[in-house]
Amino acid sequence: MAPVEVRDLSKRFGDFAAVKSLSFDIEAGRVTGFLGPNGAGKSTTLRALLGLVRPSSGSATFGGMRYEELERPGTRVGAVLEDASFHPGRSARNHLRVLAATAGHPAGRVEAVLATVGLTDAADRRIKGYSMGMRQRLAIAAALLGDPPVLILDEPANGLDPPGISWLRGLLREQAAAGRAVLVSSHVLAEVAQTVDDVIVIADGELRAQGPLDQVLGGDDGPATEVRAHDPVRLGEALRRCGHRVERNGDVLHVLGATPEQVGEIAGREQVAVLGLAPRARSLEEAFLSLTGARA
Ligand SMILES: Nc1ncnc2c1ncn2[C@@H]1O[C@H](COP(=O)(O)OP(=O)(O)OP(=O)(O)O)[C@@H](O)[C@H]1O
Ligand SMILES: [Mg+2]
Repeated sequence: MAPVEVRDLSKRFGDFAAVKSLSFDIEAGRVTGFLGPNGAGKSTTLRALLGLVRPSSGSATFGGMRYEELERPGTRVGAVLEDASFHPGRSARNHLRVLAATAGHPAGRVEAVLATVGLTDAADRRIKGYSMGMRQRLAIAAALLGDPPVLILDEPANGLDPPGISWLRGLLREQAAAGRAVLVSSHVLAEVAQTVDDVIVIADGELRAQGPLDQVLGGDDGPATEVRAHDPVRLGEALRRCGHRVERNGDVLHVLGATPEQVGEIAGREQVAVLGLAPRARSLEEAFLSLTGARA
């Protein structure tokens, strides 16, 4: 049994379907990126996982149990959602002490998680004086208090500067290396591409792809070629007949699954004049955009 299992999860708001029959697993020891453009349904799904949104149908379970059924949920799942809020007059150390006492976590966890997120030296300052990055660290510290095997973070890179993002990447890798199942959402692939092992890609509430990052967004399409042709429509049709995927942008064709040599031969047979021909590396970002149907 995977530490997190989502099955046929759907959520409607009135007659708007925000999440449509999503199914996926999250594995221990791996960072899973939950990716999709704005409005794709990421936060709704994560809130449904955490019992904050009631699914219209389907389920999300942790070791077979829904979040609401977990005894001491903080020891099973740690989460940072978009709207983390703090008592502004408290220090980070006191904030965490209160949380630990309320949830029955050992007091020693407070110092441990402060160290994990690098807040030990700032821990006695009032939270109202904290920067956005420090608040994000504190929210993560709170999620880790119960030493949970599952960590869920909704857009944790939002508002972080480049050093903050690079710190976050390191933290996510460390948490997975410690054996946790880490689920991190983002609408910006570049923020997480270097960090994630697996990805789940959604758009319009629907699952578009899932699996290891390389397999889903990487070079599994094989070679790709960019060709500029005198008659791009005719060449495009010929390439498609030969089984290649073709995207047209003006008189330039992006051909997936074909080398320049193959494209050149097909153009020769069709007697279409080729004005330019080059191999092309398809970036992760392009693969992501084409999967989610969004355009940069
Ligand atoms: N309480 C609600 N009532 C009505 N519609 C909602 C509600 N919550 C979310 N939605 C809609 O559901 C869709 C998915 O929203 P959601 O916040 O899950 O997207 P997201 O992928 O997290 O987007 P973002 O990247 O902007 O955070 C959006 O169209 C949103 O307007
Ligand atoms: Mg969101």
